[in-house]
Amino acid sequence: MKSKLLVATLFGVGLSFGCVSEQHDVTLTANLKETGPLLHKDIYGQFAEHLGRGIYEGIYVGPDSDIPNTKGFRNDVLNALRAIKVPLVRWPGGCFADEYHWRDGIGDPDKRPVKVNTHWGGVEETNAVGTHEIFDFIELLGADAYINGNLGSGSVREMAEWVEYMTSDKNSTLANERRKNGREEPWDIAYFGIGNESWGCGGHMSPEYYVDLYNQYATFIKTPPGKKPKLVGSGGHTEDTEWTDVLSANIERNISGISYHFYTLPNSDWQNKGHATEFNNDDWFATMERTYRMDDYLKANIAKLDKNDPEGKIGLYVDEWGTWYDPEPGREPGFLYQQNTLRDAVVTAVNFNLFNKYAERVHMTNIAQMVNVLQAMVLTDGADMLVTPTYHVFGMYKVFQDATAIPFTIDSDVYQHGEKQLPAVTASLAKGTDGHVYLALVNLDPENEASIALNFSNANFSKLTGELLTHDAITAKNTFKQKEVVKPAAFTTSLNDLTLPAKSVLVGRLQ
Ligand code: AHR
Repeated sequence: MKSKLLVATLFGVGLSFGCVSEQHDVTLTANLKETGPLLHKDIYGQFAEHLGRGIYEGIYVGPDSDIPNTKGFRNDVLNALRAIKVPLVRWPGGCFADEYHWRDGIGDPDKRPVKVNTHWGGVEETNAVGTHEIFDFIELLGADAYINGNLGSGSVREMAEWVEYMTSDKNSTLANERRKNGREEPWDIAYFGIGNESWGCGGHMSPEYYVDLYNQYATFIKTPPGKKPKLVGSGGHTEDTEWTDVLSANIERNISGISYHFYTLPNSDWQNKGHATEFNNDDWFATMERTYRMDDYLKANIAKLDKNDPEGKIGLYVDEWGTWYDPEPGREPGFLYQQNTLRDAVVTAVNFNLFNKYAERVHMTNIAQMVNVLQAMVLTDGADMLVTPTYHVFGMYKVFQDATAIPFTIDSDVYQHGEKQLPAVTASLAKGTDGHVYLALVNLDPENEASIALNFSNANFSKLTGELLTHDAITAKNTFKQKEVVKPAAFTTSLNDLTLPAKSVLVGRLQ
């Protein structure tokens, strides 16, 4: 047990400074009669871009492939993703979105133009997966669609017509073209993005210039009653808050949320990001420190929204987040393929706990990306596939989809590394749609376990039952030879003796 020299409540997290010991003390305090915001299911969304082997090979092999598939989509990958209840898929990019012309991806696949994917490896883009195919995939998954429009190199007309093609129930030429191409009923689009990273690959614009374009493009997005997607403005990234500020102060047309991107690079250096699987405790801390910046960055962006939108109408959508490491030697660097370890699992849980903490504004996020790209759920190798440690955390947290947050404070010892420190433990607490109360805990510290005390009022729980994900090695990973090195184990404990192992993620039901 540690002595606490000083406890300061910082944004709901109490930090005790200057302690060295082998067990962290953590106290979570909550009144179970209180309720917080909805933890929208779309907080657990995923991103699938035309990038590397993300779409082709990763999810789509074509109907003639020897790999078992449904309408060309791999059955093994579909089944794995169904099991974690993916609520939302963002497509077609990313940077790719601002060079995507939707007409290239409809009609006879053999007659579709072959383009060059200029952003990602300069490879040929056959357009075999276009609008109809991606909606097939999303429907097979049972998810919702987040379609990202092309503001950077498209036109107002092109974007307006794409939305009409997808959503019109009229006898219009565009709606009839969709019917001729095999789809009678209009599709539902849950979210529609007006450009992506317009400060960079989406056109190198200023936020002021983008505001005018947003107002113009949004004016012409017209849908039948009840079919209007939530419109997403392309926002800022990392420590920048200017985009959130300028967009939320000046956009006059309908907007549901402003996007925000933040990637976890262990070295915080785009030229030398860090290795995916070979790292030590220093790299582990650096990764946790970088990912935990999400806390300050969300807070800073939300402060801008609170100033310009006190009624809370505009959401902050973290529609790209996750780890980004150096490319694997011997692989095409533009494909952004990387392995995934226990460290990625802990990063995932840290971010989920932050998204849940700020769920008043954070209604939707998308991890980058779903399969074979960056912090993926699934990796494939020909006909083979595996699920990653990150995948398992998505599976464990699915009980929080559409749950109602229960406000809490957490008084946690620190994870001390040299002169630097982070909270050792962070958490989520919520009432699930099934009426049960769920608790998630993550221990960021790779060396010290944590003793957890639950100081709950209006509750009568004695047990926690769920799953625990951890491993002896910080670099533990699943490979095509050993696919189940990192996977959750069943966990049940009395609340009198709740101990969270070092470097672990726990999600359980209170009983
Ligand atoms: O996710 C990879 C890329 O990262 C996306 O295409 C882009 O939006 C971001 O810079």
